[in-house]
Amino acid sequence: MTTYRSRVAGTGSYLPPDLITNADLEKLVDTNDQWIRERTGIEHRHKAADNQATSDIAYEASILAIKDAGLQISDIDCILVATVSPDYLTPSTACVMQARLGLNGVPALDLNAACSGFIYGISVADAYIRMGMYKNILLVGAELLTRYVNYKDREVCILFGDGAGAVVIQRTDSNAEDVIYSSHLRAEGSLGELFIRKAGGTRLPITQKEIDEGTHWFTMKGRDIFKNAVRTMSATCTQALAANDLKMEQIDWLIPHQANWRIMEAVADHFKFPKEKVISVVHEMGNTSAATVPVAFDMARRDGRLRRGQTILLTAFGAGLTAGSAVLKF
Ligand code: ACO
Repeated sequence: MTTYRSRVAGTGSYLPPDLITNADLEKLVDTNDQWIRERTGIEHRHKAADNQATSDIAYEASILAIKDAGLQISDIDCILVATVSPDYLTPSTACVMQARLGLNGVPALDLNAACSGFIYGISVADAYIRMGMYKNILLVGAELLTRYVNYKDREVCILFGDGAGAVVIQRTDSNAEDVIYSSHLRAEGSLGELFIRKAGGTRLPITQKEIDEGTHWFTMKGRDIFKNAVRTMSATCTQALAANDLKMEQIDWLIPHQANWRIMEAVADHFKFPKEKVISVVHEMGNTSAATVPVAFDMARRDGRLRRGQTILLTAFGAGLTAGSAVLKF
């Protein structure tokens, strides 16, 4: 039986040009630039234009990733979109994208694992490719989180922004070196209340009461999320290292979910891993949920830090609570 492996063939990212700076937030809530920088590392976030939806920014990142992979749009044979901020509840954002890309007939589905969505997507894409189902899977993490943020809630509004990152995951030979080695996923649904958008689903439809009470916005228990983020990202990275018989010294770059620099720092400290080898772009985009890992990946490639042949450890945590890691040679 032929065995296949998967590789990251191309990357792309798109951050809308409009910015929300810390100074802008100072005008909206009782906060200040110094507090935000010290507690999160964030300097500004990007905000999509009113006429942009998630599929629009996903499309921009996708075109760049397909071009970077040296492919035509018509080479893509499966579309996965990781998002918690879809264009519509149905049809999926992946289907909206599929129509825009002109890929009629190509399977398309959304994944909701919050900020771990891209890592879950890698796992799905890798499994599809190993099974021989597809050759070039477009995997996108895309979010318009500014639409769900209450700009009166100072703990939440300082964190989130809009953005999209995409990769093409491609079939390669089983003896190739530049492959996705593994992915490890976990979830703890009992901790779902720590980060939740309560109204808007079937349990709590949006009514005037919900709007008045603000349950249609993201709500968060920040300190608890922080602790669980460090715990679960560290745990899934440990699983990844053990499964591949790797030591942290053999990792060229750690790309964690970009939620807060202090969380990334704590994960690096857990492994005594040098901070200079942690890719962080959180200062320039804030938390863009499922988009942070592919955007950070792409930005580090473009600024020359991340190069072909390097070993990369990706990890993320998110609402759910979900978490995961993936190791690959790029
Ligand atoms: N500006 C100024 N003061 C603030 C702000 C603000 N924006 N927000 C909170 N504070 C205050 C608090 O009220 C508190 O005041 P008090 O001491 O008088 O009670 C004080 O600052 C310290 O609050 P802490 O909650 O202890 O601050 P902490 O250092 O934990 O930082 C933060 C808060 C930034 C939210 C941090 O906990 C964090 O980043 N948590 C993780 C959040 C996260 O990643 N969420 C997304 C996860 S899920 C997903 O990604 C979709």
